[in-house]
Amino acid sequence: MISLRVPGDKSVSHRALLFAPLADGVSRIRGLGDGADILSTLAVVRALGAEVDTRPAERGGLDATVRGGPLSSPAGALECGNSGTTARLVAGILAGSGVGGTLDGDPSLRARPMRRVIYPLQAMGLRAEYLGAAGCLPVRLRPRRSGSLRTLRHRARVASAQVKSALLLAGVTARVPVSVVEPARSRDHTERMLRAMGAPLETRPVQGGYEAALDPTGWDGRLAPLDLTVPGDPSSAAFLVGAALLAGRACRIERVSVNPTRVAFLDVLSSMGVRVEAGADSETGGEPLGEWRVHPTERLEPFEVGGSDIPTLIDELPLLAVLAARAAGRSVIRDAGELRVKESDRLGLLARNLGELGVKVEQLADGLAVQGTRDPLAGRVRTDGDHRIAMAFGTLGVDPGAAVEIDDPECVSVSFPGFWTSLGEVERG
Ligand code: S3P
Repeated sequence: MISLRVPGDKSVSHRALLFAPLADGVSRIRGLGDGADILSTLAVVRALGAEVDTRPAERGGLDATVRGGPLSSPAGALECGNSGTTARLVAGILAGSGVGGTLDGDPSLRARPMRRVIYPLQAMGLRAEYLGAAGCLPVRLRPRRSGSLRTLRHRARVASAQVKSALLLAGVTARVPVSVVEPARSRDHTERMLRAMGAPLETRPVQGGYEAALDPTGWDGRLAPLDLTVPGDPSSAAFLVGAALLAGRACRIERVSVNPTRVAFLDVLSSMGVRVEAGADSETGGEPLGEWRVHPTERLEPFEVGGSDIPTLIDELPLLAVLAARAAGRSVIRDAGELRVKESDRLGLLARNLGELGVKVEQLADGLAVQGTRDPLAGRVRTDGDHRIAMAFGTLGVDPGAAVEIDDPECVSVSFPGFWTSLGEVERG
């Protein structure tokens, strides 16, 4: 059995770097991811005046010491690079803290929808001006004085942890009640971390979805500093697990997240006939972490996914789509229209690239149907700079007999700079 480690979880790393400056005191964070997206967040919090010292971590990634204190208006635009999480969460923090600034990003991020977060923040009283295309970055935010936002009750059309987080952060920093109801439960790192820091936040299933609510009545607004070790990233680990399955090897992923809102793809693997063991052995900053053990199977069964499971495996769908190419039958992904507004139109690119490699694939409005095949897979993959498209097809390239060429292999550095090295370890065994 090969033992593998993955970088610190991207979602938890972003949040730790964004929330620690809001705390009363000095936070210590170990094992942050060091992908380009996290470096974007680091640069943005520094541009907002946060004092952050970083150093290389013992087991890879970064350790950071962050001093809490008031944020200040940045000198120039806040460059979020490729990172939707940075742009959307920072919008919420600026709105509630009464700090103005312009959020911008690379061409991929400029094409992604921002209205879903800016509009409810405007309903709370934020003044915002789109400087380019309507509803997109760059956007200039001119918040009202701190603490003067209105209460918000928001029913989101799509489940999005980024939107939910931005609104909760606006509520926390302005100390006003916020309730967000999502149609299905999305990743809950913001709720866990803010609660661990002392914010009065509750979550519960409600009619038509799932609610996260902040009620600051009687709360002094103080957040305790973080003392946190970031769990390994399940979304990075997923690709290595997929590669091990295609190579017919058992693997163990150490110190990885087992947060239930992140690991639903392991259940899909089980339904495909893969033996999976995953359990929590500790907790850090409210996040469970543990070990996964995954054993290969002679025959991968096809799968169907959709409905409320989608938000809890949204970033693993590119991997599941490429594994479907090697399953014994037709697999179907539905209710995943959100994939069209990620770092690329992932449904479009998955269909195009699977077709290019000789796989029969049907593109649905909100999903894909993939017919598994045993034919050798060969061809050139277009990534449009999307890290998860590159890693999904890189993983498929491990399949014996495959010849998969990736047009932009370096783009994996957005979330997993060491991906190709780790993939080579899985391939060699
Ligand atoms: C993320 C939330 C998800 C996910 C993204 C990271 C987060 O996006 O796809 O990679 O850290 O909150 P949405 O909030 O748009 O669903």
